[in-house]
Order: sequence, then structure tokens, then C-alpha cells
Amino acid sequence: MGAARYIWIDDSLRPASEGVVPFVSAAVQYGFSVFEGIRCYATDQGPAVFRMDEHVERLLDSAHIVGFRELPVTAEQVKTAINQTIAANEFSSCYIRPMIYLDGAMSLTVEAGQPHFVVAVWEWKAFLGAEAKEHGIRANVASFTRLHPNIMMTKAKVSGNYVSSILAKTESHRAGFDEAIMLGPDGFVAECTGENLFVVRNNVRNNVRNKIIYTSPRAGILEGITRDTVIALARDLGYSVVEEPISRDQLYIADEVFVSGTAAEVVALREIDFRVIGDGKTGPITRTLQQEFDKVVSGKHARSAEWLAPVPKLNAAAVRT
Ligand SMILES: Cc1ncc(COP(=O)(O)O)c(C=O)c1O
Repeated sequence: MGAARYIWIDDSLRPASEGVVPFVSAAVQYGFSVFEGIRCYATDQGPAVFRMDEHVERLLDSAHIVGFRELPVTAEQVKTAINQTIAANEFSSCYIRPMIYLDGAMSLTVEAGQPHFVVAVWEWKAFLGAEAKEHGIRANVASFTRLHPNIMMTKAKVSGNYVSSILAKTESHRAGFDEAIMLGPDGFVAECTGENLFVVRNNVRNNVRNKIIYTSPRAGILEGITRDTVIALARDLGYSVVEEPISRDQLYIADEVFVSGTAAEVVALREIDFRVIGDGKTGPITRTLQQEFDKVVSGKHARSAEWLAPVPKLNAAAVRT
């Protein structure tokens, strides 16, 4: 993981060492902050941010959902901060973590503190490990249930929500798996700890046998931007993508199961709860979508221009030393 030299704090770039949050802040005490996970990819035209507009919109939506009324930044300012932070650190590709957090509010109301805005970047390759993309990973169904939307809203990337992910993934790792699948309060498959989930099944519909790609409905999950990308790419290729509830045993009898996320990208689940999925390796549809995704993010796909935003040069005036 390549460390950054600069971080964006509120309205300017600062040395990375200044990127600290006070111990007495609602962000640290209660997990009251919202964030995004975005990737910047190396292309022949230089570094480019993948689906910047959608990520920035989701960051501001998350802030709105948790009740921030006045934000320290507009969408345009968030984009400028992201671009400047990448450019200042001279990364050709990196992971981007913007965050809006509440400072010293100890009275359990949003009004008791001030929102602050930070963008951190770092070099980060394969989140699930180098082998994962090639061969797939092993997952289990977590003993912890995914958040109910009326307990902790799943459309917002709230820091505190990720305690649930850490519980599930730690349990998985300690049991020898790579990732946890979380069922929703309704008992159906919701998502993984940081990825959405897809199932490929050879179905008979209207007496025609064909492969259909299923994914969980949006209401109870984080509406992943990679999920949306995969659905668009699959439909471009002529696959039917159906959003409907998926049961645990539908996972076991799937031909292919794969996950999608900004950090993980597109990765197959080759085994679930000690049951081999399909042939026990990355299946052909997963592989095709993985390759399409790689083409898109490296600037070599018909969709690349629509989804990649090139990073402009550094504006030296933004740097405060
Ligand atoms: C719980 C959860 N589900 C799904 C995703 C995938 O979302 P995206 O593709 O926008 O990264 C993430 C990652 O942000 C996540 O944290």
C-alpha cells in the first residue's frame, strides 16, 4: 500500500501527517461519519476516476440521509478536492476515500457539532488478494444479520454501519473463509461485507433454457456503483439481469456466484458454506464480466469515456504547507 504525502482537509491540501481526527468527536465516539470508496485507474490518457459523479452524489446522499443539513462542500468542490489530492500525490492509480464527519458533538444530535470534509488517497491493488481475481474465493453465510433499513439505513455509507461488516468478516476469516455473505432481516441474501452479490443460473423460462443473472433487490442493500456497472455491461452483452430475492440454497445450486465492489472489483465465489459452486472456479460469465470491467476501467471500452473522468493537473495554490 503506497502512502500519500498529502491529504485534503476542509478546503485545502495539507501534509498527510495533519490528517488526524480529535478523540472527542462524534466520528470517533459514535461512528458518525459518511464516506465513499472510489478508484482512480491508470489509462493511456493518465489517471482517471471511475464513475466520479455517481460516487460524489452518493456521498452527499449519505450525508443527507444521516441528517446533515448544511454541508461544508458542494458536489463540485468534492470533485475538485478528489482531483487535486490525486494530482498532489502523483499517483497514477489509487483508492480514494472522501469523508464527511461530525466533530466534537457529545450530545447525540447532528446540530451539536460541525461537519468536516476530508479526502485521503492511497495506492491499493487487489483488496481480496491477488489470487482472488483469478481463482475466486471461499465464503460463508455470516451468523450476523445484515442491517435492517429502519435500524441503520443501508443506502448511506455510514462509518458505524461497518461495525456489522467487521463482525461478519472477522468471523469468516477466523473460520477459514475469505468473505462473509450477509442475509437480510427477511432471511434472503443481502450482500457481502463490502460487495454486492450476483448469481448465475441456467433456468428454464417459457420452455427456453438460458443463463440468467440474478441480484438482490435494492431496498435492503447498498446500491453499489460497481453493481450498476456490472448490470449495464451484462445487458450490453445481451444477458438478462433480474433483481429478485435470492435464498441461501439458491446460492448453493448456482452455476456461478460472484461479487462486485469498488475495492474488490469483480470476483467469483468458488465455494460457499463448504459447497462447491459450479465447477469450483471462476465461471465463464463471471470471467467475461471481469474482462469487460477491466477494459472499461483501463480506458479501452466503448463505455470508458462515459464512466472515466481524467484527473486534471495540480493547482499549486491549493497546497498549504
Ligand atoms: C456493504 C457494501 N455493499 C456493496 C458495496 C459495493 O458498492 P460499490 O460498488 O459502490 O463500491 C460496498 C462498497 O462500497 C459496501 O460497503
